[in-house]
Amino acid sequence: MLKIAFATNALPSQNALILTIASKGKLGEQGIKLDRKLGGAITRAMKDASFTGAKEQTLTLLSLPKTRLTRLVLIGIGDPAEADANLFVHAGAAAITALTGKDTSAVLLIDQFKNSGLTEPEAAAQAAMGACLRSYRFDKYRTRQKPDQKQALKSLTVACANPAAAKALYAPLDKVADGIYLARDLVSEPGNVLYPETLAQHAFALTELGVEVDILDEVQMKKLGMGALLGSAQGSVNPPRLVTLQWLGDKESKNKSPVCFVGKGVTFDSGGISLKDPAGMEDMKYDMAGAAVVIGVLKALAGRKAKANVVGVIGLIENMPSGNAQRPGDIVTTASKQTVEIITTDAEGRMVLADALWYAQENFKPRCVIDLATLTGAISIALGQEYAGLFSNDDTLSDQLIKSGKSVEENLWRFPMNDAYDKLLDSPIADMKNSGGRDAGSITGAQFLQRFVKKGLPWAHLDIAGVSWQGKGKSTPSKGPTAFGVRLLDRFVSDNFEEK
Ligand code: BES
Ligand code: MN
Ligand code: ZN
Repeated sequence: MLKIAFATNALPSQNALILTIASKGKLGEQGIKLDRKLGGAITRAMKDASFTGAKEQTLTLLSLPKTRLTRLVLIGIGDPAEADANLFVHAGAAAITALTGKDTSAVLLIDQFKNSGLTEPEAAAQAAMGACLRSYRFDKYRTRQKPDQKQALKSLTVACANPAAAKALYAPLDKVADGIYLARDLVSEPGNVLYPETLAQHAFALTELGVEVDILDEVQMKKLGMGALLGSAQGSVNPPRLVTLQWLGDKESKNKSPVCFVGKGVTFDSGGISLKDPAGMEDMKYDMAGAAVVIGVLKALAGRKAKANVVGVIGLIENMPSGNAQRPGDIVTTASKQTVEIITTDAEGRMVLADALWYAQENFKPRCVIDLATLTGAISIALGQEYAGLFSNDDTLSDQLIKSGKSVEENLWRFPMNDAYDKLLDSPIADMKNSGGRDAGSITGAQFLQRFVKKGLPWAHLDIAGVSWQGKGKSTPSKGPTAFGVRLLDRFVSDNFEEK
């Protein structure tokens, strides 16, 4: 992970410098000083390149006279009065993008502007977060990288007035970044390395942070009657696991019912006997993103010692075809005693969640349950990679989630649910079938899950199939695993359940 330090806003004398510039090419206090020292080179370069300091604009200056600076990167922040946290997250990310090749260390200077919408320490902390998130890499399986392909930047110093305050504000964000890094690493790992047992081990490692972790094996799940999860798991030589992670950070009210996060952890989804199309099947290693996010958010909460009680439950299976695999037409009995006719073995996520949701409700008496799952391809047809789907039986919970998501740029779009959609799951032979057909595929998936939620319990389902892996790459997250949900749920907990 990139090393991040905070320092006073003095101009550095060497290496790379990244400087924030306001709209209309307005330089801040340090910018003016540096421009003078460079004989007006900054002002001239801005003019020549039509750099106006607009949001997300960048300009790199090389061969700077009279200094040992290797490069100067200007980053536009627009009108300082309109600045918000995310603007600086993007500025930090842009700093990383602008530094390639030879820069092993750099200074990002948050320049002083009058009437800024954000205090400088806040801006510095958010920029540090953006830089940290943008510099994520997963290079462990690349053994032949040339030096210039490797991450050059080792340390970033964020300079601003009052670095001590910035450092204090960054401390909890750094813990959230730890959770995000973990979730991204887990999502990146291939199915031959990460399968239910090894994913459970990664969850178990959180015991070091004070998280209580409990792992159920096949025999224990059989005793609990988890026919849904076990049925979807039975084709694989890798046995399933059900893991619970408890963070009880609100010590004064130990009995306070917890917030519960439930994650789909299909370490590889071949579709089973209802085999998927081979083209792109390799993507199905990330079908455990929901579980990874639950582990990641618990790491974040425990890391920053959140004053809240939170439980994570993750159902871990591998969905494979074999002589022992589940057949279409099979009927299974879930832990909740409801029976399900299997129409397609590729609708395995809901089967895993049916038993995981039941387990969460039976054991933890949660105040609310939020599940995360790469549940349907249909959600990306509807929303692409921009929004995750939100399905819920509770308006208050929905609004809270949407609001927290907005503030960290992990956006949710709520879908309708009703009896007519629910009816599409009726089966002529069992209590329900596991697929409602092509129409409204994401909604019927959610309706299926709702059948395993007790009446009156606030519940929300986040379909993250479209947002868990960025094909295009944005500012943050960059290309690859996004860990969508870690920041959102961390924020959801701090916004609603932590006493400040
Ligand atoms: N894991 C898939 C959904 C998915 C698709 C995730 C693309 C990420 C990217 C899920 O298990 C699945 O196969 N869903 C089916 C449901 C259908 C059979 C009812 C789908 O989307 O086709
Ligand atoms: Mn599937
Ligand atoms: Zn799946």
